[in-house]
Parts: sequence; C-alpha cells; structure tokens
Amino acid sequence: MPLFILCKWGINDRSVFEGREGPVEIGFTYFDCTRNSFKDIALRAIISDIHANLEALEAVLTDIRRSGIAEIYCLGDVIGYGPNPCECIELVYPFDKCLLGNHDQAALFDPDGFNASAERAVFWTRGQLEAAAGSERQQKRWDYLGELPRLVREPNFMYVHGSARNPLNEYVFPEDIYNERKMERIFSLVEKYCFQGHTHIPGVFTEDLNFLAPEEIDFTYELGAKKVLINVGSVGQPRNGDPRSSYVVLDQNTIHFKRVEYDFNKTAQKIYAIQDLDNFLGDRLKEGR
Ligand SMILES: [Fe+2]
Repeated sequence: MPLFILCKWGINDRSVFEGREGPVEIGFTYFDCTRNSFKDIALRAIISDIHANLEALEAVLTDIRRSGIAEIYCLGDVIGYGPNPCECIELVYPFDKCLLGNHDQAALFDPDGFNASAERAVFWTRGQLEAAAGSERQQKRWDYLGELPRLVREPNFMYVHGSARNPLNEYVFPEDIYNERKMERIFSLVEKYCFQGHTHIPGVFTEDLNFLAPEEIDFTYELGAKKVLINVGSVGQPRNGDPRSSYVVLDQNTIHFKRVEYDFNKTAQKIYAIQDLDNFLGDRLKEGR
C-alpha cells in the first residue's frame, strides 16, 4: 500500500494513491506507488522578478502547490517597484534557492543606473525594510537579502538574474539575437542550459541565434544537445503584453512555460495609494508592459 507524500508544500492526501499501482499523475509529476516515492523525477518551478507583488506571488505559489511541485528556485528581484516587499521576502524563505537581483541589491546598497521613478521606489522599499528596526523579523529579512548568491551552478545548469556574463545587471532581450558578438560571448560562458530573468520577457534563446516566444512553441521546450538560455519571465511585473504572472516548470528535460492570473487591480490600487511609488508602476501591471 503506498504511503502518502509529505512535501514542503503539504501534499499529504493518501487517498490519491490508494488502490493504485505504478505511477500516478499529480499535475506535472508522478508518484510511484510501487516504490512509495517520487521516482527519478526532477521537477522544479523556476520563478523570477516578483517585485514585491504579493497578489502575484501568492497566485503563483498556489499554482505551484496545486501541481505537486516541491522545489522552487527564484532568480532574483524579490523586491522593488511593488507595495509588499517585506511580505514577499518572508514568502521566499522556504524556497530551495534564491538569487540576488539588481533591485534587491539596490535596496541593500545604493541604486546604480536606475531612472528617477525606480530610484524613488528603491528608497521607499528600503524604508519598509528598515521599519521596526531592531526586531528579529526585520533583522532576518536584511540578513536573508544580504546572503543571496549572484549565481548558482549545477551540472549542465546555471541560474542567474541577468546573464552568464553579468549575473546581476546584464539584460538579454529578444532583439539581442541580432547582436552576434554579445550572444556568442554569453553562450561561451554557459555549459549547457542557463535560466535567467531580468527582462521580464519569457522565452528560449538558441545558440544559432533564434528567440522562441512561449506561444510559438506551444509553451513547451525540450532540452537537448544544444545550449540554450531560458528566460522564465516575471511573476510580479510581466512585460510581454500579457498581464498574467509568468514562470516555468522544469520536468526532467522538458520546460513548461506557465501563466497565472492574479488580481492586478488590487496590487495597482495599493501602488496608487503610496506616494513614492509612481502610478505608472500600477498602470503597467494591467497591460503587462
Ligand atoms: Fe526585475
């Protein structure tokens, strides 16, 4: 008789498996009833650019849990632009990995290369993080941000916020496929597959200089022998014309691009009510730009 799954996100309904033999499908994954375990399954949600958008993060985490995914990586920019930096940082604590993004760094140190509106948002965000100074929760948030790595390497896989060349700050936009020199240099630093965020535009860059938007590939891409860069899009501030949150699921060698609806009007209203956050930061959520 199969046992039940007790994963980090609390999937513990043994009735799903009772009387079943062999693999049972749960969302994207399988539970091997014969072995009472997940069998050689590499299932991971990779998210990025939450930007202090609590409604978007909660919706994505609900989607991840519903799919039975236990492992979550975040590619940075947990905060910046949005109205709920403290809440979002605390929701990220249980993730398996989280990288430092340029907005996280700006809140910790000084904003560099930000426009006036983004800079005001950085200082407002820092004020939120500094509130209740001396409390344990406040200290833990600072410590957590201060210890985030800029890059994670695993066999065949690399994870960065920006690019393999400049993990924190370099943008790799779809139009960069026409910049052969830049792309060759970046690909030369990637062993096989590099997951990245920063532009908020999801898709796959191939080594022969193509950009594949998720809609063009039916939201699925099979990792193969060739090197690729995969942009996972943004949870909290999508910019490819679709206001839904974006993230990816890595299921062995298959990447699934996912979109999740959330209440962007609620987030926008919070932004409008905060003077230091430009109204544009709320408007853009409604259009995904
Ligand atoms: Fe970002």
